[in-house]
Amino acid sequence: MDIAGSTALVTGANRGIGRCFVDELLARGAERVYAAVRSPETITASDPRVSPLYLDLLDEKSITDAAAVAQDVTLLVNNAGIATGANLLTDDLDDVRRDLETHLFGTLRVIRAFAPVLAAHGGGAIVNLLSVLSWAATPQGSGSYSVAKAAEWNMTNGVRVELAGQKTLVQGVHLGAADTDMMADTDAPKIDPLDVARASLDGVQSNTLEVLVDDPSRFVKAALAGDPAQLYGPAPAE
Ligand SMILES: NC(=O)c1ccc[n+]([C@@H]2O[C@H](COP(=O)([O-])OP(=O)(O)OC[C@H]3O[C@@H](n4cnc5c(N)ncnc54)[C@H](OP(=O)(O)O)[C@@H]3O)[C@@H](O)[C@H]2O)c1
Repeated sequence: MDIAGSTALVTGANRGIGRCFVDELLARGAERVYAAVRSPETITASDPRVSPLYLDLLDEKSITDAAAVAQDVTLLVNNAGIATGANLLTDDLDDVRRDLETHLFGTLRVIRAFAPVLAAHGGGAIVNLLSVLSWAATPQGSGSYSVAKAAEWNMTNGVRVELAGQKTLVQGVHLGAADTDMMADTDAPKIDPLDVARASLDGVQSNTLEVLVDDPSRFVKAALAGDPAQLYGPAPAE
């Protein structure tokens, strides 16, 4: 798929990886980019190709309204997300539900609303921002997020097979840590969020189903084929 001449919609386009997607889409010649956000007034881009649009993943009507307006979309970037930081055993289950509502059900709602739009334009492409934590769990503060990202990963596979008939490319993008607000409190090596957008869009242009942006995502994916002890250490001693 060519980015030049495409019409894209990016959720969570006002900051972090989403804003980098907008910049990179414009740099590659997209004809129009809908910046789909909870606060359209925060979209102050001077480029006339950027159209702010209200969209909240937790507000179904905002999603169907956005799809009714953005009938020309050929590339959907499902980027918006949260990290409640909830542990699975000790934190409020409502936080676990909020992670799932956002990453799984919110993203799925957007795909359901835009699948017919993409079909009307010959198929197009969907990009889902996943994570190394779609495939692994860490001890503190990411249990709930990991569950939501794992669910979003296999939802990505599910919609891929359901949309194959309409020739929509469904791409999953995995990364460890990028330097955004979401990772502000994390003391780990972080990649430039623009590199995430670039790797993903290179993959859209070359019709690639899965993009592994960094070494952590490549390492964890490879480790899945082996003994889980490689990721989680040995089983407890008897
Ligand atoms: N950064 C990383 O290291 C990393 C690693 C792996 C995967 N990811 C994934 O990459 C994506 C982007 O992450 P990021 O680091 O750029 O995050 P970020 O800097 O925290 O930005 C999150 C974006 O999502 C939007 N958002 C949150 N909840 C929303 C909702 N209910 N409806 C609509 N928009 C909502 C936010 O809007 P507001 O400004 O209105 O809050 C913001 O634009 C996420 O899906 C994340 O899980 C990130």
